[in-house]
Formats: sequence, C-alpha cells, structure tokens
Amino acid sequence: MPERIAVCPGSYDPVTNGHLDVIGRAARLFDKVIIGVVDVQVRKQAPLFTAKERKRMLEQALEANGHDNVVVQVFSNLLVDFARENEAIAIIKGLRAISDFEYEFEMNQLNRKLDDTIESVYIFASSEYSFIRSTGVKEMATFGGDVSNLVPPLVAEALAERLRK
Ligand code: PNS
Repeated sequence: MPERIAVCPGSYDPVTNGHLDVIGRAARLFDKVIIGVVDVQVRKQAPLFTAKERKRMLEQALEANGHDNVVVQVFSNLLVDFARENEAIAIIKGLRAISDFEYEFEMNQLNRKLDDTIESVYIFASSEYSFIRSTGVKEMATFGGDVSNLVPPLVAEALAERLRK
C-alpha cells in the first residue's frame, strides 16, 4: 500500500504547543506528515521570524517530542501544488474555535476547486490549547507576559531574545 502522506501548512510564527498537539495527532493518522512553513506574507503584519528560523524551531521542537514520521519544509507556492509535489493525499488544518470556521470553509472550497483529489482534514484543538494563537503569544511576549506554558522552551527563549532587540 502506498504511503499515506499529509501536509500540515501554516505560518508557524512561531510554533505553539497548540500546533504541536495537532501535528502529533496528525502523525498518528498518517504514515508521513510534512509540515509546510509558508514563506509568503499571508497576514497584514510581517512575520517576526524568517521562514528558515520558523522551520528550525519546528524541527527542534519536534525532535524533543520524538516524532520520526514528521518533516518540515518551507513552501511559497499554492498549497495544493505543494501537496501534489509531495504526493500528499490530505491537507491537515487545526481548528480552535468557531471563528476559524469561516476562513477555513472558504479555503476548503477554493482548494477543492483547484484539486478535489486532495482532502482537507480538520483536527479540533484540545481544550487546553483552544485559546492559543501565535499572534496572541507574540503580543503577550512583547509586553513581558509569561508564555512558557504556551510554547516550547526554545521558542520562549527565541521570543524573549527577538523582542528584546
Ligand atoms: O493561519 P496560518 O498559519 O497563517 O496559515 C497559512 C496557510 C498557508 C495555511 C493559509 O494561508 C492557507 O490555507 N493558504 C491556502 C491558500 C494558498 O494556497 N495560498 C498560497 C500559499 S500561502
């Protein structure tokens, strides 16, 4: 049977414990999970970390969590093309709250129009992570808030260092 591959796209600016929860659960469902770090500005605000830095932080966090069927890649093309290039059968998205739904619903329709052979799969955030988003974590860290229980230790350090500058 061919390997069942999924891509898990996002900005990961920076990776949070919520992302790691979704990635870990996706890694149990698929033979291989390819994390796609988007290197295109998808938000109004420019990313705090470069795509290379975001990839490195993900790799270090994943190493600490011991997932051997997860790899990280940077991409800057259309998500369905990135999925196709990697022979993925699915796109994994994490959902935290109803507020994520509208955006993801629209993306789902668009991506299906582009390629209806790639299925989008949604994983609901565990309740302890449903309030975490990278933007909130960055804002808290900017004002000196403690983010150590929201992100892996190496990310908390990187945030403190970057925001100190
Ligand atoms: O919410 P995030 O983490 O910033 O997610 C970014 C991403 C890439 C998952 C989102 O922008 C998306 O689903 N894009 C799909 C549309 C597409 O293919 N865009 C071109 C590359 S971003």
